[in-house]
Amino acid sequence: MALKSSFGIVLVLILLCFIDITHGLSPKLFDVRNYGAIADEKTDNTQAFLEAWDDACAYGGRSRFYIPPGTFLLGSVSFVGPCEGTMAFLIRGTLKAGTQPHKFSTDTWIGFRYLSDLTVKGGGYLDGQGQVAWPLNDCSKNSHCGPFPVSMRFDFVNNSRIHHLRSIDSKNTHFSIFACYNMSISHVRITAPEDSPNTDGVRIGVSTKIEISRSVIRTGDDCISMLSGSKDIDIYDVSCGPGHGISVGSLGRSHGDEYVSGIRIRNCSFIGTDNGLRIKTWASSLYSLASNMIFEDIFMQNVRNPILIDQQYCPFPPCGNWGGSSSSAVQIKNVKFRNVWGTSSSKIAINIQCSRMMPCRNIELEDINLAYNGSGGAATSLCSNVKGFAFGRQRPPGCL
Ligand SMILES: *[C@@H]1O[C@H](CO)[C@@H](O)[C@H](O)[C@H]1NC(C)=O
Ligand SMILES: *[C@@H]1O[C@H](CO)[C@@H](O)[C@H](O)[C@H]1NC(C)=O
Ligand SMILES: *[C@@H]1O[C@H](CO)[C@@H](O)[C@H](O)[C@H]1NC(C)=O
Ligand SMILES: *[C@@H]1O[C@H](CO)[C@@H](O)[C@H](O)[C@H]1NC(C)=O
Repeated sequence: MALKSSFGIVLVLILLCFIDITHGLSPKLFDVRNYGAIADEKTDNTQAFLEAWDDACAYGGRSRFYIPPGTFLLGSVSFVGPCEGTMAFLIRGTLKAGTQPHKFSTDTWIGFRYLSDLTVKGGGYLDGQGQVAWPLNDCSKNSHCGPFPVSMRFDFVNNSRIHHLRSIDSKNTHFSIFACYNMSISHVRITAPEDSPNTDGVRIGVSTKIEISRSVIRTGDDCISMLSGSKDIDIYDVSCGPGHGISVGSLGRSHGDEYVSGIRIRNCSFIGTDNGLRIKTWASSLYSLASNMIFEDIFMQNVRNPILIDQQYCPFPPCGNWGGSSSSAVQIKNVKFRNVWGTSSSKIAINIQCSRMMPCRNIELEDINLAYNGSGGAATSLCSNVKGFAFGRQRPPGCL
């Protein structure tokens, strides 16, 4: 009898277990159409999306937020966690941003905040409709300009993935990663016209363990930019251009500026970009450190500044007297450029201008083959305030 009843209990437990497992395995779909979203390019679907999010986020299992094929007009939205379970945000269709200036006077179009275990995917499009904002952007002359919305922002997001997405014509940066940990971005295609202002592809700040791979980024500003507090960043199989290339910085302007370290860029190409690999720090700055960076197996085609370290960055002089000095107090060290080849559209293919106050240390150039695509002689290199080493092939002749 005792045996029989305990057998019964075990059976019930097994059944409960089974129910729990199937519950965990089959995701629940939250289709925005069931919340009133209409793909007619006219209806503002902001409210419908937020209601669908609230339900999806409150569900304790695997949620799938589903945007079907079709074009959905969407205003500024923030999808805020934490959520009860895991979240897949599936974009099959096209999300279209608004075009009325009074509605886009915000820094975010689509925001994700305080989340973990998020996946954003689906092969769909984010259409930022930037053409209505670019003529209003005077940020190169006016420091009180904007704001203009970033197409997709991730703030305080952990252990998440973004893949198979297309972003076109953002009004500002396409993707921003801030205060995140362990994120990967792959198979994304980012496009905006060559002359569109501030349309960075991916912007990273105060984040650790970020991977960007297998992507194509053609835009008006930086392909990828890594700002202060970027650590353990791995970028590979990315094709950039047009645009301003991959940059670290500008560093040295915020108080308690977090260090940058552990940057690895490999197997990437730059086609017709302004810069290739660039590290920039403000001409006058507070103390900071940028170290342990490796750039390897990089192809350049007609790039204006293929390799550039600029510690005199001052786009709109005067650049003041930060930290009591007019030169940069950002220490750059342990930086390696390995196997970089192709063409430069300017004569100076390598330009390393470090700080007088804090010279660069341990800069390595190994197997460099950059030719000048123009008349009037071969490519050259220019260095100041640098300590470092050169190995293997050096074309142009090294200046280290
Ligand atoms: C992300 O991770 C950090 C520390 O690793 C933690 O403090 C934070 O609460 C996490 N955020 C979420 C939304 O899980
Ligand atoms: C990073 O996030 C992925 C999910 O995208 C997870 O599988 C992996 O365990 C995480 N790694 C670390 C070190 O937290
Ligand atoms: C390098 O990147 C190209 C595309 O940019 C890709 O086709 C190739 O597989 C990559 N090679 C390696 C070794 O990762
Ligand atoms: C050289 O420059 C011309 C003119 O900008 C360009 O069309 C061509 O593709 C460049 N060639 C190489 C090998 O970079």
